[in-house]
Amino acid sequence: MKTRVHNFNAGPATLPLTVLEKAQAELLDYHGLGMSILEISHRSTAFDDLMTQVEANLRQLMGIPSSHKVLFLQGGASLQFDMLPMNLLPKGGSADYIINGVWGKKALQEARKLGNARAAASSEETIFDRLPDPSRADFDPQAAYLHFTSNETIHGNQWGEAPSPPSGVPLVCDMSSDILSRPVEISKYSLIYAGAQKNAGPAGVTLVIIREDLLDRVPQNLPAMLDYRLLAEKGSLYNTPPSFSIYMLGLVLRWLLDLGGLNEIAKLNAKKAEIIYQAIDQSGGFYRGYSRPECRSLMNVTFRMASEALENAFVKVAAEQGLIGIRGHRSVGGLRASIYNACPMEAVKALVDFMAGFQVIHM
Ligand SMILES: Cc1ncc(COP(=O)(O)O)c(C=O)c1O
Repeated sequence: MKTRVHNFNAGPATLPLTVLEKAQAELLDYHGLGMSILEISHRSTAFDDLMTQVEANLRQLMGIPSSHKVLFLQGGASLQFDMLPMNLLPKGGSADYIINGVWGKKALQEARKLGNARAAASSEETIFDRLPDPSRADFDPQAAYLHFTSNETIHGNQWGEAPSPPSGVPLVCDMSSDILSRPVEISKYSLIYAGAQKNAGPAGVTLVIIREDLLDRVPQNLPAMLDYRLLAEKGSLYNTPPSFSIYMLGLVLRWLLDLGGLNEIAKLNAKKAEIIYQAIDQSGGFYRGYSRPECRSLMNVTFRMASEALENAFVKVAAEQGLIGIRGHRSVGGLRASIYNACPMEAVKALVDFMAGFQVIHM
């Protein structure tokens, strides 16, 4: 078998090797059933047990209280850009969005197709090299909700503490690219959503964690597949769920629990990010961090070099040496190392060694 590369892809992203091995070992015969998990009914006892266990482990890891429902949906985080306003933005109401990157901007654009939504704060003026200052935000105290993106995957900025909405305004977070990377106080949030394909598993399942009383606000007669209340009532089994993705999510959650939970993974994540940012900051300007230091992402390290030609050479030579996925998002260019939970310390060390070597040759 070809040796596995150091994978810095932004999503779908690297998965823990032990998770892949477990899936491989169980692929032909899931728990002695003589069938693969891919082949069993979503109405079977075995699948029911799996869903129950996955939800219990997610609740344990994230400390999700009984006030919040957990949904396993499809359509990616992008469908949540629409489902959120369809379900929680009433006719005549207005929703607030904090924009600290392209994903938040897309979420706002979608909400505007469905109702009134405003940018209460934005750092677009400085091309999202920082977070907007919440103390200067123009919050609507009557907003149906306040939406923000905890980690902006493309520009590489991340909120340390969640912004505080005006009293009584529900806080909603797109946590796609840092869910499960650190502990968060779930009770602060009315709704959290996240596509799984960065920190939680493969593409195909989208997590929605919603405070149960908000389900009372869902309008009647939404299309069934877009209706949080119905999907919650049916335990995410209104139709066939993405069963294999949920199974893989379950293996990732087990892996996290065995590692010691979110406090432990958060320490590891902070260490990994520190090592790369230090390499950038100590390069005498050869590498330049994109985000301002106080809002740097611990998940997506974005940086630039003196010219695009140099960046292209960096990506090319890195790939030749087994360091994959370092090109920045196509909309912004530059370089980006995504170092989600499953990216091991060895990959980070290999990257900083490569950066030092590349600098010596190209200075
Ligand atoms: C923060 C954030 N939100 C939303 C999305 C869109 O996710 P999906 O492709 O699951 O729709 C992404 C994808 O990279 C993301 O990083």
